[in-house]
Amino acid sequence: VGQKMWGGRFSAEPGELMQAINVSIDFDCKLAAQDIAGSKAHSNMLAAQRIITSDDRDAIHKGLTEIEAEINDGTFPWSRELEDIHLNIEARLRDKIGDAAGRLHTGRSRNDQVATDFRLWVRDALDNFDAQIDTLQRALLSQAAGNTDTIMPGFTHLQNAQPVTFGHHMLAYLEMFARDRSRLADCRARMNESPLGAAALAGTPYPINRDMTAEALGFDRPMANSLDAVSARDFAMEALSAATICATHLSRLSEEIVIWTSAQFGFITLTDAFTTGSSIMPQKRNPDAAELIRAKVGRIMGAMTTLTIVMKGLPLAYSKDMQEDKEPVFDAFEALSLGLAAMAGMVSDMHPNKDRLAEAAGAAYSTATDLADWLVRSLNMPFRDAHHVTGTIVALAEQKAKTLDALTLSEMQSVEPRITDDVYSVLSPLASASSRVSYGGTAPSEVEKQVTRWQEILA
Ligand code: ARG
Repeated sequence: VGQKMWGGRFSAEPGELMQAINVSIDFDCKLAAQDIAGSKAHSNMLAAQRIITSDDRDAIHKGLTEIEAEINDGTFPWSRELEDIHLNIEARLRDKIGDAAGRLHTGRSRNDQVATDFRLWVRDALDNFDAQIDTLQRALLSQAAGNTDTIMPGFTHLQNAQPVTFGHHMLAYLEMFARDRSRLADCRARMNESPLGAAALAGTPYPINRDMTAEALGFDRPMANSLDAVSARDFAMEALSAATICATHLSRLSEEIVIWTSAQFGFITLTDAFTTGSSIMPQKRNPDAAELIRAKVGRIMGAMTTLTIVMKGLPLAYSKDMQEDKEPVFDAFEALSLGLAAMAGMVSDMHPNKDRLAEAAGAAYSTATDLADWLVRSLNMPFRDAHHVTGTIVALAEQKAKTLDALTLSEMQSVEPRITDDVYSVLSPLASASSRVSYGGTAPSEVEKQVTRWQEILA
């Protein structure tokens, strides 16, 4: 029992406290598969370069394969005394194959080892996101394809603005998620370089072949500067940035789902699969999944902030601060992955209430712009005058508690005598949406073209 440095303030011994703050195995055990892949690639290279014998290489590989099996079936003897994943695996290898295990770490350091493992892990996660976003896009596309002419209100300021189609609204998110995929792909391309062989910070005197290990691990090339290789974590920050942006898109869609499922809107219905009841109010069907996805951006952006502040001001090369890089990334990526999966499920589960959407689309004088445009087109009125006349007609409708297309012709003519009954052809929400045939517009004909385009892209 050693002396207590902090008196009664801490009950643990200094040795225990050091271990408590230093240990990372509780979370970096997630890097086991990457660590083993890295060690296999490294030992292959050492043997090819005649730095170790092929017998040692074979023993190392056999041992690592057994260790991988132990980890997968839950029999691996994890040890907190051994600090991290790298030392846990190396110690176990020594148990299994003896002295040859000690040759594995030739020309390598935990600094390039952990940088390699973490890159491999993040790269796998990025590939997984790409597949998950693809699934979500397909769900959105299928809602879009089934609703190219489902009319709904389009909003600005969350006030009725102009009618749009539900399919158009779904495709807006499909576009956002496509940019997320492309951001994640950019990040993947930039990060796909190998730190392995940078050793502690300065490189190594052994005649290693960094191209060989880079290629074996699926990297495009070795990183060109050993100091940078062990110090860089911008790949993780970039991945978290792209994840944060993607999470904002999930959050906005979640918010719309929360609004749309309310009794006041009633735009869509979710089945019991993505809602929960209340312990007291028997009528409730709460959109909990959407709310939780809406919130995930908080922890994802929080992780981005955490890692940025960990890295800020760190001198080159490795400092132990950098061990704090993993937990935020693991947590954020799990949150995003779950959010993407739940959102894909929820989008497939959405049932648009077409009658209610159509009714809401016609409310609040949503076709007033169409009336103004009709005055411009049919009476050659300057748009500013048409805007004013339309405003007066809206006020009249409001006073009579009627929708625009329910006003009689003579009521409209009391404001502008030259109006003819041709005006009714533009006043319905469907006519309004159908007229917006400009490229990227909401007309069903345009939405169908975009659906076809996306079917080809995602095919
Ligand atoms: N567990 C460490 C980490 O996650 C591994 C690298 C340790 N390197 C060192 N020089 N202590 O960063």
